[in-house]
Amino acid sequence: MALEGVDGSGKSTQARLLAVSLLQQGREVVLTQEPGSGPVGQRLRRYLQGADRHLSPQEELDLFLADRREHVEQVIKPALAAGQIVITDRYYYSSVAYQGALGLDPTWILAENEAFAPQPDLVFILVLPVSQALARLQRPHQLSELPLYLEQVAAIYHNLQGPHIQRLDATASPQTLHATLLARTLEALGEFGGVG
Ligand code: TYD
Repeated sequence: MALEGVDGSGKSTQARLLAVSLLQQGREVVLTQEPGSGPVGQRLRRYLQGADRHLSPQEELDLFLADRREHVEQVIKPALAAGQIVITDRYYYSSVAYQGALGLDPTWILAENEAFAPQPDLVFILVLPVSQALARLQRPHQLSELPLYLEQVAAIYHNLQGPHIQRLDATASPQTLHATLLARTLEALGEFGGVG
């Protein structure tokens, strides 16, 4: 499953909380993220933190695709093959939204990704107003976090459709949001109803 949303929407916190709850239930969970921890992912993180966004949108996309290919082969596919639950903090919908917001065609980006990356059973998009998301970030904003750009990112997330895509109100408290996320995840795992 994948967690998506604009910077500051609480994805990383929720991914961790969800992983812990599922682990406590005795399930095998792999918590992972994009950009990844390999060489391309590290290069991407340095680039995103830099003062200058000098790559073209296509060059950016190519790097995210290269990073994702590595992530899929080295982390996601082996975990799925071992029957583990994969929780990824960002996945290819981030490329659709963030590189789409730079002017590339979101539908085409989606197709490029779905050609090699397994489609998640569940995608949670955490939704909250960009102004609130930015206010939550406690670090200096990167270029990728400019309000107008993020509004465009949010608009593309808003248009994503599919039976596996669910939206959650991320203005809720972390605990409330976690409870909802866990319930929806258990429902999807086919064990809704709990014990007793
Ligand atoms: P983020 O999850 O915010 O990392 P961190 O919280 O550690 O800073 O991701 C970093 C940035 O990468 C974020 O602004 C979105 C961007 N991004 C893309 O533009 N395209 C992509 O395909 C991915 C995965 C991320």
